[in-house]
Formats: sequence, C-alpha cells, structure tokens
Amino acid sequence: MRYENMWEYTDKVKEHFFNPRNVGEIKKPDGVGEVGSLACGDALKLTFKLDEDGRIADARFKTFGCASAIATSSVLTEMIKGMTIDEAAKVTNKDIADYLGGLPEQKMHCSVMGREALEAAIENYRTGGKKKHELKGKVVCTCFGVTENEIERVIEDNDLKTVEDVTNYCKAGGGCGGCKGEIEKIIQKVQGGKLKEISLEVPRRAGKLTNIQKIQLIQQTINEQIRPALRADGGNIELIDVEGNKVIIAFRGMCAQCKLAEFTMKDVVEAKLREFVTEELFVEEDTDSAEQPHNHRE
Ligand code: FES
Repeated sequence: MRYENMWEYTDKVKEHFFNPRNVGEIKKPDGVGEVGSLACGDALKLTFKLDEDGRIADARFKTFGCASAIATSSVLTEMIKGMTIDEAAKVTNKDIADYLGGLPEQKMHCSVMGREALEAAIENYRTGGKKKHELKGKVVCTCFGVTENEIERVIEDNDLKTVEDVTNYCKAGGGCGGCKGEIEKIIQKVQGGKLKEISLEVPRRAGKLTNIQKIQLIQQTINEQIRPALRADGGNIELIDVEGNKVIIAFRGMCAQCKLAEFTMKDVVEAKLREFVTEELFVEEDTDSAEQPHNHRE
C-alpha cells in the first residue's frame, strides 16, 4: 500500500502502537538480536525463546523509535510466535509491513529494522549465542552504516526503483547524500539483472524484434533503467517517437538544456538502449519539444 500522506497510519499500526505486545526482554533467551543505534534515531533489541519442538514460544522486544518502530516490533513478535527457526528466517520486511496493512513509505525502514533484528537473533541462536549482529559487506552509506548487501536486499525484496525509495527503506542516502551515486549504481545492477531476464523472455521473430516489441522494450528500458537515474538529479525523460532505429526523446526538468543533457543522452540513454534492446539504435533529442534553458544558479 502506498500513502500520499506520510503520517497516515492504518488502524492496525495505531492499535499496536497504543497497545504494544511483548514489550521487554526474555531472561536467558535462545536468540538475541540488536540492530540500529540511538545515534541514528532507531534501535531495536529482539529476544526469543524456543519450546522443546524448536518453535518460537516467546518473543519480546525493546525499541527506541517512533510509532512505526513500536508497531512493527510488536507485530513481529506476534508473527513469529509458533514458527520454527527456518520459517522465521524467511520473514521479509514486506511481510511485516503487509501484516500491519501497510506503512507510510517514509517509515518502511522500521519494517526493515524488524527483519534485521530477527535475522540477527536467529544468527545469534545458530552460532550458540556467540555471534552478535555485525555489518556484512562494504559500507556504502557511512552516515547510517548501511552496507551494499543490505541495500541490495531491500531493493530485491521490495522491487525498489529510486534512491528515494532506498532511503525510505533503509535510511541510506538520507544524511549527507554522498552515497547517492553509489546507491543508484546498485539499483541499476539489481534492476538491470531483472530487466535482462525479462528481455530474454520477449518472443522474437526470426531472431529479430518486431516493431511493437522494440518499442515496448525501449519504453521499458527508459522507465526502469534511465528515468530513475535522471529523477535522482531532478530531471526526467520522455519517449517522443521511434522511427526505424532512431529513438527520439526529450529531456524534462532540470538540465533539459545544459551540456550535461547531451552527455547523458549520448552516454547513458543510447548505451542503455543498445544494451537492453538492440545494438542498432541511435538516439536523437527532440528539440521542438525541449524546454527553455534554465539558470543553474537560480
Ligand atoms: S554517506 Fe550516505 S547519506 Fe551520508
């Protein structure tokens, strides 16, 4: 569920916020997971205990965070009770958010924090209580301590397309902004892989794309590969027409007329279209529909 209003919570979120279940900490737990940090504004500690059949008999949480952090932690403890460790290990942040009937996009990172705490607690259990949560992989966002692995995971689990989405889901990019370029590349890598899989499934006639398939693939590549990158810089792109192998496009918004637009068109748009559609394509800008030049110092 997508929200227009970031503070519009479902009844279930409100109910779990006002009456949180399973608050506290289990003494002598089988698994402990601690994630987040008070410096970043959110922290969560999850403890669980198993019964003799290996199912989660009790789960408790302590959190420092907003209404969504409390509601997601509360609902998570309810969800995992009765699960085996293997079942609990499959819970995604999307499952948690869905259980709550949705969360505002800007608060999705709370559901990710819940899933991370659960994973950390399971890892702690599987290593006999030896292992505490530690970051795996290269740290991409140093402001919030978010790794490449974690960014890839939220993109995959939630089919994220923009840097803003990634910031909403794991906070990466929400501080100084210095990591946004790298986040964009990770989105391209994860979503690019998916697009290649889709593209291979497109039926081709005698090894060649039909006109309709070609136009569909061009539009798909623009939507999924090119537009998110331009949007991150406040711009946009529109497909005007396709004539044979000539793709006519127009840039919108920021940088519609500046030199960077020319660079973007040649180096990114054409390269992406050649990579995902066909080598024969070339790109031209529709100057008739171009916007008026803007002043960068405005
Ligand atoms: S390094 Fe990611 S926001 Fe600063």
